Amino acid sequence: MTRILVTGATGNVGAHVVRELRAHGADVRAFSRAVGDFDDPASLRRAFDGVDRVYLCAADGPAKVRHETAVIDAAAEHGVDRIVKLSAQHADRASDVPAYGWHGEIEAHLHRSGVPAVVLRPAFFMTNLLMVTASGTLPSPTAGRRVAMIDIRDVAAVAAVTLLEDGHTGRTYDLTGPAAITFAEAADALSVRFLDLTEEQARPRFENAGLPDWLAAQLAGVFALIRAGGFERVTDHVRTITGRPARDINDFAASLAPAN
Ligand SMILES: NC(=O)c1ccc[n+]([C@@H]2O[C@H](COP(=O)([O-])OP(=O)(O)OC[C@H]3O[C@@H](n4cnc5c(N)ncnc54)[C@H](OP(=O)(O)O)[C@@H]3O)[C@@H](O)[C@H]2O)c1
Repeated sequence: MTRILVTGATGNVGAHVVRELRAHGADVRAFSRAVGDFDDPASLRRAFDGVDRVYLCAADGPAKVRHETAVIDAAAEHGVDRIVKLSAQHADRASDVPAYGWHGEIEAHLHRSGVPAVVLRPAFFMTNLLMVTASGTLPSPTAGRRVAMIDIRDVAAVAAVTLLEDGHTGRTYDLTGPAAITFAEAADALSVRFLDLTEEQARPRFENAGLPDWLAAQLAGVFALIRAGGFERVTDHVRTITGRPARDINDFAASLAPAN
């Protein structure tokens, strides 16, 4: 049976990838800091023993390129026949939005490695909204622009299918939800108050939030792209790849409701 190594297996998306793959009856090996370290080559070698395919995702941060290229190199050494890489829309080595620059570099390394690959470039995750709605408001420096935000369960479902099914290697898929919506609509679905902010009003929130510099730059960059309409395009890949429609913001909100 094909054995699949899931890196970032305890992460937001990775945990769902493990669940999806197991639901398909796949042979899954989960990799996180509980069992190894991207910076520890011996732990990577152990993890790769007998592995055919890899889901690739390390945490965002300055170590990301080093971590993911180490996995790609180990995969090439072990003759892995497919990597499904979680990237991001707007991935570009030249980007000054930190994570998009890192993804661009990793994608380039992946293509150079010669390992057959599928690149998933999701739009804005709906779960991002939860980082700010805890206060009961959704601050939104989006200038009323729409975002084709996606539920991470759909990202994971696409990852599982492209790991298991043939016919996807060599492809890069921009993944989105079923519609581009405003943050006001998202606030409504999540039953929180919408707080319209200008870029000037939002900037100190990013700069004074005690975030690492790269994360403050990431958030500022993402909202600048949103205001430029960079997340408005809707694609149909979730439906065509998984065979069912992408979840919308109401499905996402329902998934947060406490079970009765
Ligand atoms: N947020 C968005 O809107 C958005 C949109 C598009 C793309 N993305 C991309 O999605 C990715 C993040 O996915 P995610 O949220 O699922 O990831 P995540 O929750 O940050 O998970 C990171 C995973 O990496 C593991 N990890 C961290 N350091 C490690 C190390 N040294 N050795 C081994 N494992 C290590 C963590 O394991 P432990 O649990 O053991 O720490 C965890 O399983 C990023 O690349 C981001 O750019 C995000």
